[in-house]
Amino acid sequence: MYARLKPLLFRLDAEQAHHLTLTACAVAGRVPGVPGALSTLNRATSAALGQHLWGYAFASPLGLAAGLDKNAEALGVFSGLGFGFLEVGTVTPRAQPGNEQPRLFRLPPDEALINRMGFNNQGLSVLEGRLQGRHALPIWANIGKNKATPNERAAEDYLAGVQALSGVADGFVVNVSSPNTPGLRALQHADELFALVSAVLGEAERQRVQTLRLLPVLVKLAPDLTGADFEASVDAVQQAGASGLILSNTTLSREGLSHANRDQAGGLSGRPLTTRSTELVRRAYLQTGGTLPIVGVGGVFSAQDAYAKIRAGARLVEIYTALIYEGPGLPRRINAGLLELLRRDGLTHISEAVGADA
Ligand code: FNR
Repeated sequence: MYARLKPLLFRLDAEQAHHLTLTACAVAGRVPGVPGALSTLNRATSAALGQHLWGYAFASPLGLAAGLDKNAEALGVFSGLGFGFLEVGTVTPRAQPGNEQPRLFRLPPDEALINRMGFNNQGLSVLEGRLQGRHALPIWANIGKNKATPNERAAEDYLAGVQALSGVADGFVVNVSSPNTPGLRALQHADELFALVSAVLGEAERQRVQTLRLLPVLVKLAPDLTGADFEASVDAVQQAGASGLILSNTTLSREGLSHANRDQAGGLSGRPLTTRSTELVRRAYLQTGGTLPIVGVGGVFSAQDAYAKIRAGARLVEIYTALIYEGPGLPRRINAGLLELLRRDGLTHISEAVGADA
């Protein structure tokens, strides 16, 4: 069905197509029986793909990356596509409009997107309302700072995120790696990062005691950190005691692109990130000796791509851009493909593949 729908959607402006699809999913998700039926159709049912991490059960290692359902509008449908977990946000304390449109661009021959959305979102109170109730699978809140908040006061915004969502989120992602909020990536420098992550972990611990909920805190980094800087940031995350790393966000690089939209400003995602983000997973896995759980994200279009990230050291994998190009059947196909790859390699459980190629 998506093969027929895609040419129509691709004729629309990219952001218009995004809103249309999200609204359709939100409406479908409210129709009684739809989320349950989807879930029955797509659920990852093999124990070989199931993992327990941070006290939560993940039926599949595949999750939805941040930015697609920023305001948790269509969780009913996304919960039923075969994902093992979902990440919503980035959310900032106060609602904000983001950058001027157009701000989302397709690069079809490169199987890529460029976005400069700028954390457009409805704010913490709306997200808190939408995450109420029982979740069918772990839902992480990706938290950020408002554009108007200076970096010296950034920690207050992240702490506000933890305070507002601790009763409803199943974990947090500290986003210091979006290229579209001026100055945000400076928070990745080791000293600033250590201080910020320590503060967030302290607040999460206070909230854990009050809410009696398990609240893992992961940190998402950019793929543009080089050599020693990347190592120092990974070290800072681990020293602070974070629960895991997400590698990676979008890149500012424009290497190897053919489509005219390559000249648009913003973060590049999709196929051009595949190898780069896998290499970052491998480096972080080796650096931490496999002691820090890693979520691999960037240009995963197939089970092979997901498996490569897992074999490089990722426990979990996320997708965004490939969903736009391949459609909603992709998570189910990736789950099925992962099982085949495990069988091919004589492995009985996905955890046996983690880091096998590191
Ligand atoms: C993103 N991404 C993103 N990441 C994040 O931490 N917070 C966000 O708000 C967003 N917003 C966002 C919007 C759009 C339009 C895109 C395409 C991406 C980054 C995303 O979560 C992911 O890290 C990258 O896109 C790489 O994965 P894919 O897209 O190559 O699978």
